[in-house]
Amino acid sequence: MSAGRRIRVEPSSGALGAEVSGVDLAKLDDAAFAEIRDAWLEHQVLFFRDQQLSPADQAAFAERFGELEAYPFLEPLDGHPYVIPIVKEKDTRMNFGGGWHSDMSYQERPVKATLLYAIEVPPRGGDTLFANMAAAYEALSDGMKELLDGLRAVFTAAKVHGAAGFYQNADHPMDKRKNAAREEARYLHPVVRTHPDTGRKALFLDLPHVERIEKMRVHESEPLMNFLAQHATQPQFTTRFTWKAGSLAVWDNRCVQHYALNDYPGERREMNRVTVAGDVPV
Ligand code: OGA
Ligand code: MN
Repeated sequence: MSAGRRIRVEPSSGALGAEVSGVDLAKLDDAAFAEIRDAWLEHQVLFFRDQQLSPADQAAFAERFGELEAYPFLEPLDGHPYVIPIVKEKDTRMNFGGGWHSDMSYQERPVKATLLYAIEVPPRGGDTLFANMAAAYEALSDGMKELLDGLRAVFTAAKVHGAAGFYQNADHPMDKRKNAAREEARYLHPVVRTHPDTGRKALFLDLPHVERIEKMRVHESEPLMNFLAQHATQPQFTTRFTWKAGSLAVWDNRCVQHYALNDYPGERREMNRVTVAGDVPV
């Protein structure tokens, strides 16, 4: 355990993630936030327990990381335009985020941070997995790194949110706010991006949001994308968080992918989610 002057930080695995204690996120001073931000850049995803956060408290904490950005495909809470309820009801089969991904990577400026706060969780199950995309990149061969360093990929929300997307005809209340132009937009991002704060390179390619690699045929690009996804999510690059009511996680989408486990049929799970605007990846 390392101790700053105000917070305690306990790494969660060898790969990434740390649990932070000794802090009330609803009453945070600037010095404590500075320590949290440093720990976040170092560990890539932070976990906090036993927080009591109203939607306004969560949005205020999120705003310390940067300007908030609304999620385009779900309705926010009344009076809180940046706080999105992510609810899986007892009889819903589909979940939100049930595949490895980086949030809103299909945008011209993918979001930097996501803050997820647990309000109600199942008695067991419903964990979230996180994978370190910088460690995954660093573990590749020099030849593969050279190939990838020059590549860009075509990102789009269409595979998930589009007319033929994953969420169509699903029993998840997704796509209530139809947003056709944003569903079908496409942006090119580098397959390997450099983190603007740490300078560390990371793989930036998530299967739900990437159509193909630029300048490649689909049948060339698909096996490469599948290899990278499989490589990057090996257990040694991951950590797993078991939620309790009052837990909050904040992850860095520039160097982390995550996966919401859908292993709690018949149970209800309710989270509030806030996202923070990011830069054009380089
Ligand atoms: C998200 C997401 C994971 C979860 O909010 O972006 O992927 O476990 N959620 O709910
Ligand atoms: Mn997500």
